[in-house]
Amino acid sequence: MKIDILTLFPQMFAPLKESIIGRAVDKKILEINVVDIREFSKDKHKKCDDYPFGGGAGMLMTIQSLYDAIKSVNREKSKLIFPSPQGRLFTQNVAKELSEEEHLVFICGHYEGVDERLFSLFEIDEISLGDFVLTGGELPSMVMVDALCRLVDGVLNKESLESESFSNGLLEYPQYTRPSSFMGLEVPEVLLSGNHEEVNKWRAEQSLKRTKERRKDLLKKKK
Ligand SMILES: C[S@@+](CC[C@H](N)C(=O)[O-])C[C@H]1O[C@@H](n2cnc3c(N)ncnc32)[C@H](O)[C@@H]1O
Repeated sequence: MKIDILTLFPQMFAPLKESIIGRAVDKKILEINVVDIREFSKDKHKKCDDYPFGGGAGMLMTIQSLYDAIKSVNREKSKLIFPSPQGRLFTQNVAKELSEEEHLVFICGHYEGVDERLFSLFEIDEISLGDFVLTGGELPSMVMVDALCRLVDGVLNKESLESESFSNGLLEYPQYTRPSSFMGLEVPEVLLSGNHEEVNKWRAEQSLKRTKERRKDLLKKKK
């Protein structure tokens, strides 16, 4: 999968070079390019923001540099995404849907956002991380890239995804590692029993119990 991220703050994307996503890039399962929108500005000072018509607080990202930056990466099969508090909600299902695309282009808004005409010029999927307002689209893009890239074939082994929270509509069961006893707290015996059938049964029960306790809404969706 290829991902282009268009931003005014390319240096914010260093974390994508680390850990599982970084390794998948090294193995060429993923190609992630960070594109500096400022390089496309025709303004002599490379300015990419201006005051909103009609007045009001803050600055807006101007359309020319955004338009040219998108044009430089957009292909027939590209899917354009604009992280926005006004978009549809990002969930594990949306991550799965995006992980099946060939080419994603994330357009990071900043300041008060972007000139609205951008959405008339391109077909853009607006996606929100939740009902709160962040400073820019950089962190939400990184969150979405991380979540969807884990689901791309070859990035993680299939087994580690199967039981993960939301993959079957439930939260994952609790997990433990060595030592089996710590400050008087013991690991549930069944996990030390070596009986895989019993372990699976216990995990299924715990997964359901935890979902009932913490996220009843997920159980309703499962019906
Ligand atoms: C300060 S916000 C602009 C908010 C905008 N003026 C509004 O009230 O809807 C700047 C940028 O951060 C990103 N952003 C902020 N909150 C977000 C959220 N909850 N989900 C996704 N992106 C978000 C968007 O790209 C947005 O254009």
